[in-house]
Amino acid sequence: MWRRLLISAFVATSALSGSAFAQVVDPHAVYEERCAPCHAEHSGDFSRKTMIAGPDGELVGQETGKAVRGFLAHHRGNPSQGEIAALMEMFTLQLKTGGLYKDKCGICHTSAKRLARVRLDVRDGVLIDRVTGRDVTAFLFVHGRLDGDEARLIDDMLRWQLKTAGR
Ligand code: HEC
Ligand code: HEC
Repeated sequence: MWRRLLISAFVATSALSGSAFAQVVDPHAVYEERCAPCHAEHSGDFSRKTMIAGPDGELVGQETGKAVRGFLAHHRGNPSQGEIAALMEMFTLQLKTGGLYKDKCGICHTSAKRLARVRLDVRDGVLIDRVTGRDVTAFLFVHGRLDGDEARLIDDMLRWQLKTAGR
């Protein structure tokens, strides 16, 4: 009796978490699992080192000259279409922010992924710090020596880190 209850509770929970995972693919987790065994660098360092954005925004591998999206479908790591889409979104953003976070924030803070996922949240459209309650969107304009465009770019990137965490 108890055993059966436990089993059905377990099945219900895994069905729930299964559907949650189907909605959001965490590209950092995909990279860790499928790419990092061979490409040891942090994903941002790796994408900036090996890829360039073509005029249409499509990412191209620096060695092969091939479009990365197509290359990955036949490359090792065996990512699914959904995982490739999530990875491409991450690489594109990493090239766009051009290491800005690493240069201007990385000296004092851990990775953007950790900073966002451990400390930040979005409430009523505003990026806030969950511990201090501070309005981070406004804070970024006076903290970390960013100009206006850079502050908006970092704000977008931190929100994206939260969105892809699947919370
Ligand atoms: C089993 C090892 C292995 C795994 C896993 C792997 N790669 Fe690679 N990757 C390589 C090797 C070796 C090269 C260089 C030779 C080549 O082009 O195949 C490479 C090259 C690349 C390149 C460079 C292409 C260019 O034109 O410069 C990219 C981009 C890339 N990998 C992305 C990925 C991504 C993203 C993943 C995870 C989904 C991944 N790789 C998983 C071994 C691996
Ligand atoms: C010279 C070190 C330094 C640099 C560079 C720096 N920070 Fe900070 N940051 C801090 C310190 C110290 C705090 C905590 C004290 C405070 O709230 O001012 C903080 C706090 C924060 C907070 C939390 C706000 C809160 O409520 O306390 C965020 C978010 C943040 N920084 C983001 C960034 C970003 C993004 C960059 C890069 C553009 C950056 N920081 C650059 C030192 C730094």
